[in-house]
Amino acid sequence: MVPPAWVALGKETFASPIYQVVLHGKDEYRPEDIDYFVGFRPPAGFLKSLPKLKLVISFGAGVDGFLADPQFPRQIPLVRFTEPALAYEMAQHSVMHALIIQRQQRFFDKAQAEGVWRQIMMPRATSATRMGILGMGEIGGKIAERFAMLGFPTSGWSKTRKNIPNVKSYAGDGELNTFLGQSDFLTVVLPQTPQTINMMDRDFFAKLPKGASIINVARGSVIVDADLIAALDSGQLGHAVLDVFRTEPLPADHPFWKHPKITITPHIAGLTSPHMALAYVENCVRRNEAGEKLSDIVDIDRGY
Ligand code: GLV
Repeated sequence: MVPPAWVALGKETFASPIYQVVLHGKDEYRPEDIDYFVGFRPPAGFLKSLPKLKLVISFGAGVDGFLADPQFPRQIPLVRFTEPALAYEMAQHSVMHALIIQRQQRFFDKAQAEGVWRQIMMPRATSATRMGILGMGEIGGKIAERFAMLGFPTSGWSKTRKNIPNVKSYAGDGELNTFLGQSDFLTVVLPQTPQTINMMDRDFFAKLPKGASIINVARGSVIVDADLIAALDSGQLGHAVLDVFRTEPLPADHPFWKHPKITITPHIAGLTSPHMALAYVENCVRRNEAGEKLSDIVDIDRGY
């Protein structure tokens, strides 16, 4: 029933007594026998070729890979993966990289490599280092909570106002610039939508405090690559930690690889573990078959 195609996890990951799994590209199957699809970025037109599909189960929290398909069957519900464990991992990633920068760990790595005892102060106290979360939804909210727990003044921006203890909520387009102007570290958790593509350009970077750092765990397409490099080179930005890119894998000749102010990770900020994957799929199928309402159904027009 499920072709778990286009995910790194194998077919055995999804084995369950409540359905039969076929793997697209490996197993023979008749399109009309497929009830559920599980995957991440299927090629355009593929889902339309499954005439009896009841539900599309996204393996990512971001569903831009589905919505980019002009033939996506919009009448079929699409659910996205918003397991809290994934959000906690993304929070760990964001916090770890912010701390490496804030506490200047690279400096000490270098001193150790040289065998030198070299102390320096943190450039800014924790209480004066403002963390901003751009896109404070399910995942962004968890990241904000974690920064706030460490004593950083923390705020987040989202379309609608959020209520998270010790986190200041900025909402809507009218409050975006104020939010950016007070974010010394900006962690980006936005979905890819027509409004967010290319949003982080030269003008956007100019709104951040001078020397701000960015951590992108969302989508590469929100950043204009050349403008990011220019902002880092001019000193407008201090550092960029990038987990996501316009083209993945990041092409070997891309200037990001060798840039001294860029840290690259290969889209690993939050990886779905096999046991989470199975529980998620089984739960979706079981509830759908029982006619129960599913959570995390994507609003196709909104894009997340
Ligand atoms: C991964 O990028 C996701 O959307 O979950």
